[in-house]
Amino acid sequence: MKEETGSSAARWDKRYRAAAQPLFGEAPNDYLRMILARADFTAASALCLADGDGRNGAWLAEQGLAVTAVDVSGVATERALALDARRGVSVERVTADLTAWVPPAGRQWQAVFIIYLQGTGALRRRALDVGAAALAPGGWLVLEGFAKAQAARPDMGPDDPDRLYDLKELHAALPGLAVVEALAGRVRLEEGPRHRGEAEVVRFAARRPG
Ligand SMILES: C[S@@+](CC[C@H](N)C(=O)[O-])C[C@H]1O[C@@H](n2cnc3c(N)ncnc32)[C@H](O)[C@@H]1O
Repeated sequence: MKEETGSSAARWDKRYRAAAQPLFGEAPNDYLRMILARADFTAASALCLADGDGRNGAWLAEQGLAVTAVDVSGVATERALALDARRGVSVERVTADLTAWVPPAGRQWQAVFIIYLQGTGALRRRALDVGAAALAPGGWLVLEGFAKAQAARPDMGPDDPDRLYDLKELHAALPGLAVVEALAGRVRLEEGPRHRGEAEVVRFAARRPG
């Protein structure tokens, strides 16, 4: 999908405002749900980077985690807060640009989720740095996103390869974490109007030692 021009906040505000329904559905991402189902995943707190209109943060809060969520779009954050209220959960939601956002001093989370943050290489790198630095000992960094191979499928996700992931980049960016799984391949997405059909994705989970 072609990137529109303008700041990230303006572009995403426009997309969310124009959407008659949640852009990526209200159900949580499948990979995030699979990680929560693992016997060795016992995190009680989570930081969701680029949580959009809130499906993942709200669901994690329903599972009993204390959730903080960051997204650049004020429109998405308002919708996410409305979703939280409908679900009867409380999520600490912050509207901020991840190119500049710094977690409050001393804050750490037992899990960090980055689900479909398809920014430029610089933005993705910053999100990975912030996420890894925010992990408590033993904490999980979990990511799903469109892979470079998705550039050949113009129906979904960005077509600019700079906005797509590969596993090499993730391994290189997170040398201090112990990889639990690092997968690239084809899945069928059923996530609202924007993520529907076959897609080439990466799924990556790693833990801070200790
Ligand atoms: C494809 S959506 C995914 C939203 C959510 N993670 C989900 O899976 O439902 C990408 C999100 O990244 C956010 N985003 C893009 N650039 C950002 C930035 N620089 N800082 C924070 N969030 C950003 C957008 O506002 C949008 O909500």
